[in-house]
Amino acid sequence: MADLKARIIGTGKALPQKILTNADLEKMVQTTDEWIRTRTGILERRIASSAEATSDFAVTAARIALDNAKFSPLDIDLIIVCTCTPDMLFPSVGCIVQSAIGASRAAAMDLSAACSGFVYGLATAKSFIESGMYKVILLIGTDTLSKITNWEDRSTCVLFGDGAGAAILSAQKGESGILSVYLGSDGTRSDILKVPGGGSRAPLCADVLNSKSHTIHMDGQEVYKMAVENMVAASQQALALAHLTQEDLKIIIPHQANLRIINSVAKRLNIKEDKVFVNLQKYGNMSAATTIIALDEAQKSGVISQGDVVELVAFGAGLTWGAAIIRW
Ligand code: ACO
Repeated sequence: MADLKARIIGTGKALPQKILTNADLEKMVQTTDEWIRTRTGILERRIASSAEATSDFAVTAARIALDNAKFSPLDIDLIIVCTCTPDMLFPSVGCIVQSAIGASRAAAMDLSAACSGFVYGLATAKSFIESGMYKVILLIGTDTLSKITNWEDRSTCVLFGDGAGAAILSAQKGESGILSVYLGSDGTRSDILKVPGGGSRAPLCADVLNSKSHTIHMDGQEVYKMAVENMVAASQQALALAHLTQEDLKIIIPHQANLRIINSVAKRLNIKEDKVFVNLQKYGNMSAATTIIALDEAQKSGVISQGDVVELVAFGAGLTWGAAIIRW
């Protein structure tokens, strides 16, 4: 089985229609377009309606990815949905997607690694495919962080947006596929980025709702430092595992949380700006959906061609981080 690689053969994305601009946010909290632009690089983000849930975007992205791969839902052996904002505690978003697209042969599950979810998902899909257990995997990164955002907290609400991206991975021989993935976590620092209420530790009740502990709590500066440090290290580790160097990369696709984080990572890795894919001005931080939507856009806009080496690198709550090297 060692010569089989997990190759991405189709991708898709789905976004809410509603656009929330920095000017809109100026009317909601004490902030300015200038502050948001200069501190984060974000200009606007997409926000789900009250009728839309995480799985709705996942299903649309999955259908587009299947069309793009020219595969049928019945070809899928396993569905992995990376999310930290499931529709409900159970069933999993994976099972909801399975039902909606009619992938009746597939096993389905969710994976929780916040903004690093899609990179963790790539590692999981790679392992299942290389072991020979599954041949075709639908991997989705999908989140609606707007549903767990405190819209009165200016230090977090300007950062996030909603969306979903999907990839079809297939077992294939040859040079193309996922070459390496490096993953890391540090649960001792979980306090700097969390949603403390609404789980089994503090089940939803009037106190949780009143204190808004069911929304994102973040120490932005600490997260910033940890993100830069660990995205740099993960990138270096993943390249070493693939026996490649920066020079071999066509493009690096970092998690799109903050343009300053992206620029610091690129500077420390000595990577030129034109080798770094950025789309956060349009979407903000969409958690697990971010890197796969960026990959979909990079590939479909012609930035990536067959044979190119691409790196995905992400960081998120947990804390979690990871990087993947893919030969297209
Ligand atoms: N508008 C105006 N002023 C603001 C805003 C705002 N939206 N938010 C904060 N401020 C103020 C603060 O109150 C503070 O004021 P003070 O000096 O009077 O106290 C000042 O701006 C500076 O605040 P800082 O927190 O020091 O600003 P910083 O430059 O660190 O930027 C930011 C904040 C953008 C949050 C940054 O720290 C960051 O991007 N951190 C990383 C966040 C991240 O990557 N999260 C991703 C993980 S999400 C996940 O995994 C689900």
